[in-house]
Amino acid sequence: MTTRHLMEAVETTTRTLDSTIGNIDLAERDTLDLAESVGFRGDELEKVGLAVREVVANAIIHGNRLDEQKRVVVTVVRTPDQFKVEVWDQGRGFDLSSLPDPRSPEVLLRESGRGIYMARAFMDEFHVQTGHAGGTTVSLVKYIRKNSEEQPEGAL
Ligand SMILES: Nc1ncnc2c1ncn2[C@@H]1O[C@H](COP(=O)(O)OP(=O)(O)OP(=O)(O)O)[C@@H](O)[C@H]1O
Ligand SMILES: [Mg+2]
Repeated sequence: MTTRHLMEAVETTTRTLDSTIGNIDLAERDTLDLAESVGFRGDELEKVGLAVREVVANAIIHGNRLDEQKRVVVTVVRTPDQFKVEVWDQGRGFDLSSLPDPRSPEVLLRESGRGIYMARAFMDEFHVQTGHAGGTTVSLVKYIRKNSEEQPEGAL
């Protein structure tokens, strides 16, 4: 019985995409529909959309190097507490800890190098995992805050 309830509380949606730039919009739209369905609105919804855009763009451009034969898989897992987006690509991955801080002077002058920084700032958790069987998964998590935990309006 417990297992059934647990399964009912977890909903997973998966979409497989070719590595084309146009699919960034598609991934964002799909994810935003699901984020709205669990109650995200306004700024929070926009942050989820921007984070997903950056991570899917990276999967297509850096992970799969725009090779249209390679796939990106976007999986959204919804639980009562979390909205989780996993973006898998067929690339070799990267080391999160060795990325330069985009607030450093040399990166400030560049036009790129901010995507991951923004995605991390907009979400509650950010993980990168490079699998043994190949491929890389970037996971983004946003916590679903229940109404009772929200700050009352006007609170400092
Ligand atoms: N899925 C990925 N596979 C391989 N390397 C990646 C992946 N995602 C990010 N990277 C590496 O991390 C770096 C930083 O990514 P980030 O999104 O912050 O900046 P960017 O993509 O270079 O520029 P932009 O500001 O346009 O997003 C990338 O330049 C790339 O080297
Ligand atoms: Mg990027």
